[in-house]
Amino acid sequence: MPRYREDAAALAALVEPDQVHRDVYLDQEVFDLEMERLFHRTWVYLGHTSQVPNTGDYLTVDIAKEPLVMVRQADGSVRVLKNRCAHKGAKLVSAPTGNTGKFFRCPYHAWTYKTDGKPLAIPLKNGYEGTRMSECPSGQGLSAAANVETYRGFVFVRLSEEGPSFSDYFGDSLSSIDNMADRSPEGELEVAGGCLRYVHNCNWKMFVENLNDTMHPMVAHESSAGTAKKLWDGKSAEEPKPMAIEQFVPFVSDYAFFDGMGVRVFENGHSYTGVNFSIHSSYAALPEYEQQLAAAWGEEKAKQVLGTARHNTVYYPSLTIKGAIQAIRVVRPIAPDKTVIESWTFRLKGAPEVLLQRTLTYSRLINSPMSVVGHDDLHAYRAIQEGLAANGNAWVSLHRDYRADESEARDLTVNGTSEISMRNQFRAWARYMAPQTSK
Ligand code: FES
Ligand SMILES: [Fe+2]
Repeated sequence: MPRYREDAAALAALVEPDQVHRDVYLDQEVFDLEMERLFHRTWVYLGHTSQVPNTGDYLTVDIAKEPLVMVRQADGSVRVLKNRCAHKGAKLVSAPTGNTGKFFRCPYHAWTYKTDGKPLAIPLKNGYEGTRMSECPSGQGLSAAANVETYRGFVFVRLSEEGPSFSDYFGDSLSSIDNMADRSPEGELEVAGGCLRYVHNCNWKMFVENLNDTMHPMVAHESSAGTAKKLWDGKSAEEPKPMAIEQFVPFVSDYAFFDGMGVRVFENGHSYTGVNFSIHSSYAALPEYEQQLAAAWGEEKAKQVLGTARHNTVYYPSLTIKGAIQAIRVVRPIAPDKTVIESWTFRLKGAPEVLLQRTLTYSRLINSPMSVVGHDDLHAYRAIQEGLAANGNAWVSLHRDYRADESEARDLTVNGTSEISMRNQFRAWARYMAPQTSK
């Protein structure tokens, strides 16, 4: 039995160009190494600046098992600190969000810190006179995340000191975030309401892989979206379509539709489906909104923004977005077979209310724990997780439309039903999981 931490060759052997070993989904040590390496060395999504609008507002998130707190400063900037008291290590704040006022106060012995992490006060301070505490890490205040970048309000961290720059890591894939933000006449997004958190009893990669898997919707969603389609069959084109029907029905489009959508992959595991059109392309036109956008951006750009209706963009490894519907899903791995999926919806600042209704409806119908479509997917993930326990075949196939030269390309667009996005994710996985990351 190889032990992957000590045996780099055994770890590397889990990923072949067109298939992967089941241990990438099942093994506890592989999972621990993913947290230590992949989730430390890459840019991982933390939250959106609109979640901390006022001075002292904070948001807590664990990334790669590290507790972090994002906090709004008095000068308007946002900082990301380790949520760990410099004294004995207590988490300073435990709530998902809140306001800490002008400083953090540890709930254990009341050490306090400015919102930028600098030490402020300690009760009975003279007890430290003559000790070397001020030269020790405990005297320095709160540690900060090594690298933080904000892009159109989306805050990412790279916990490792070493690694690719933000722009090198994401490259042109950032155009999907631009498209989502540009759908606001003000060019700005804000998180609307709370988060739908949904525990998936499966490996995190099954969820991420599925978002660009276009061979499953017409099969896995036949009972849910197919039922909606049957309900609507036979109605005249003039009959106004309820939003739910509009959103459900495209899931059961045929193979030719999904193949024609196209998929584009980038270096470092990122990709999107819906290069040419997507399941979001045929939503009802909203003339008032279209005019508003044309006034804000000019006719040509407004047309380009609304004409770009990508399906799912994967910002590997943790963020997946749907620009056309202003929704994101965030992957928070817990264990090899347990993943929390956060589902957030956004308001397009300055846009009509119907756009908000559209994203909220989508979230309820497709992404929420109460949805029917999301449960089809979850059933499939769980079925894989259980099925992979079977002996006799230790490998998972990713062969569909594999071409030996595809790994050379840094930016490649192919037919939509190719499994290239999954192979592309594992190419990045193998690189960031190696003891030393190679370029
Ligand atoms: S652990 Fe925070 S003040 Fe003691
Ligand atoms: Fe699905």
